[in-house]
Amino acid sequence: MMRRGKVLLEGSRQGSVDGKTNVANDKELVHKCHSDPGGGRALGAAPRTHRHRSASGATRKCVLTLDGYSYVIGQHGSLIENQQGALTIVRRSSSRSKAESCPTPTDEQLDSLDLDTEHLPAVDTPDACDKAALRLRYLLRQLNRGEISAETLQKNLQYAAKVLEAVYIDETKPAVARQQSAPTLVFRRLADEDDELSEVQPDAVPPEVREWLASTFTRQLATAKRKSDEKPKFRSVAHAIRAGIFVDRIYRRVTSTALMQFPQDVIRVLKTLDEWSFDVFALHEASGGAPVKYLGYELLNRYGMIHKFKVPPTTLENFLNRIEEGYCKFHNPYHNNLHAADVAQTVHYMLCQTGLMNWLSDLEIFATLVAAVVHDYEHTGTTNNFHVMSGSDTALLYNDRAVLENHHISAAFRLMRDEECNLLQNLSREEFREFRTLVIDMVLATDMSFHFQQLKNMRSLLSLAEPTVDKSKAASLILHCCDISHPAKRWDLHHRWTMSLLDEFFLQGDKERDLGLPFSPLCDRNNTLVAESQIGFIEFIVEPSMGVCADMLECILGPLHSSSKNSTSSAEPINEESTGTKDRNENSSKFKIRKPWVACLSDNKKIWKEQAAKDAEARAKQEEENNSVPPTTEE
Ligand code: CMP
Ligand code: MG
Ligand code: ZN
Repeated sequence: MMRRGKVLLEGSRQGSVDGKTNVANDKELVHKCHSDPGGGRALGAAPRTHRHRSASGATRKCVLTLDGYSYVIGQHGSLIENQQGALTIVRRSSSRSKAESCPTPTDEQLDSLDLDTEHLPAVDTPDACDKAALRLRYLLRQLNRGEISAETLQKNLQYAAKVLEAVYIDETKPAVARQQSAPTLVFRRLADEDDELSEVQPDAVPPEVREWLASTFTRQLATAKRKSDEKPKFRSVAHAIRAGIFVDRIYRRVTSTALMQFPQDVIRVLKTLDEWSFDVFALHEASGGAPVKYLGYELLNRYGMIHKFKVPPTTLENFLNRIEEGYCKFHNPYHNNLHAADVAQTVHYMLCQTGLMNWLSDLEIFATLVAAVVHDYEHTGTTNNFHVMSGSDTALLYNDRAVLENHHISAAFRLMRDEECNLLQNLSREEFREFRTLVIDMVLATDMSFHFQQLKNMRSLLSLAEPTVDKSKAASLILHCCDISHPAKRWDLHHRWTMSLLDEFFLQGDKERDLGLPFSPLCDRNNTLVAESQIGFIEFIVEPSMGVCADMLECILGPLHSSSKNSTSSAEPINEESTGTKDRNENSSKFKIRKPWVACLSDNKKIWKEQAAKDAEARAKQEEENNSVPPTTEE
C-alpha cells in the first residue's frame, strides 16, 4: 500500500493523532510493515514524521504522511505488543479535506452500520446506491483492519455489485445536455463498464482495492494500464534505461545479422508500400505466393516491433509462414493470404499516412498490425450465416456468435502457443494481456453484424463537444474500414476483389443448394445483381464507414498535429473531400487528412452504375427475346 503514490512533504494535518485517539485505536492494529518500513524512502523522498509519546512514556510512535494519508506508526516497546523490531501501522486515515471528495460517511456512521443483507432496499432504487456505497466504505475499513467475515464480505459485495449493475447513464438525453449537467444515473442496466470504476473517487480507496474491484467487477485489466500518477522512481528509471540500452545494443547486433532476406522483386514492389492503391496482387506474384510473409515481416520491422518487443526473427518468419498456410487451407477465392496482406497494407496506410501511429503506443501499433494479419486466419470461405445454418462445429463451439471471428482469434493465439511461432515470447505479462485484449477487440469488431452499431457509437461519440476516443475502439474501426476498403481502391484492384468475392459467395451458394438450405444473399450465381449490389455496398456501407473513420482520425489527430509543426505525416489541411458527418464549411480551417478513397469511391460507383444500366438493358432484351419465342407446334 505504501509503495505507491506520491509522498507529500507536508506536516501531518491529522487532528486525530493525539494520545487519546491513538490509545483507543491501538486495538485496531492490523498491518505489520516489516518489509516496508521505509515505504516513503522507496519513493525517493523522505516522508515527514512526527514523534509522539504516550502519557506512560513507553509508547514511541510517529506519524508519517504519505499521499494524503497519515500513518501512525508504533515501535516495539510501545503499548502495542508487537514482534521484535517490527514497525506497526496503528492507524491510517485520510488527511484530504471533505471538499476534495464525495461526501464520505463519518466514522460514527460507519460504526453504527448494521451489515444485515436481509432488509435492504431494492437494488434499482436511489436509496440502494447510498446503502451500497456506505457498505463498500465500511467493508474497506474493516478489510483494512482485518476484521471481517468472508460471508459478510461476500453478501455485501454481492449486493453492491447488483446495485451497480442496475445503474446506467441516461443516453437518451441529448449529448449537449449531458455535457452541461452531471450525467443522469438511471436504473436498469449497466453503463459502459470502463466508466463504472471511474465513478469511484481515485483517492477513496487504496490502489490495490481499486485494482481488485477493476479486475473483478469490470472487464478492465488489473494491471494492463499504468496509472498516470504512478511515477517510477528516478533511480529505477535510470536503471531501466541503462539496462534497456544494453539489451537493445545486444539485440540490434543479433537482429541486424539475422533479418530475413527479401527477393529483389519483392523489394521492388514494396517500394510502393505507402500508397493507398498499393498493388498487393503484384506482391503476390513477386513473392512466389507468400505476400503475408514478406509484407508482415516488412511492416513489423518498419515500425520497429521486432526490435522493440524482441521478436526473434526466425520466430516471426515461422509465425508468418504458418499464418499464410492457414489462409490457404481452404483455397478460397477471396478470403486468402492476399486479402490478409491487402488489409494489413491498408492498415499501414492509415497508420503512417494519416499520422495515427503518433497517437498509438508501440504495443497498440504491434497489436493493430498483428490483428490485421490474422483477422481472417483459417477462413473457411463461407459466411457466419452459413456456419450457423449448416450447424458447423465452429458454430457449435462459439454458440452462433461471431463464429468466424472467434475462430480467427482463437486459432491465431493457439498458434502462438507453439514456441517456434510465439512472437510474443518476450512481452511482459502486462504487455501480453493488453496485446491480447486489443487483438480480440479488434478482430471481433470485424464481424459485419456489428457494423451499424460500431458506426453509430463512433458518430455519437464524435458529436460530443470534447470527444475522447478510446484507442481500442479507434483501432477497431480502422481495421473494420480497411477490411471493407477494396471498393475504395483503384478500379482494377476493386474489380478483381469483387470478382473473387463473388466467386466465393457463389461457391457457398452451391453448397447451400446441395444442403437444401436457402441461398444467402449474393450467393445464388443465377440470380445476383452484381453491379447493383456493389453500388449498394459502396453507398450504404463503405462510404459512410470511410466518412466516420476520417472524422474520427481528424478528431484525434487534430490536437497532435497542431502541437507538432514538424510532423512528418502527409496529413495536412487540404481540399474539401470528406464524406463525413459534420458540416465542413464551419470547420474549413480544421485539420484534415488526405482521403484518396473519396475519388476512388466516386469513380468506382460511376463505373458500376454504367454497368448496372448495361445489365438492365441486357436483361430487358433477354426478357423480350424470351417473350417473343413462338409457341412450339407440340403445344
Ligand atoms: P470479411 O473480410 O470477413 O469482413 C468484411 C466483409 O465484408 C467481407 O468478409 C465480406 O463478407 C464483405 N464484403 C467485402 N467486400 C464486399 C463487396 N464488394 N460486396 C459485398 N460484401 C463485401
Ligand atoms: Mg472476417
Ligand atoms: Zn477480412
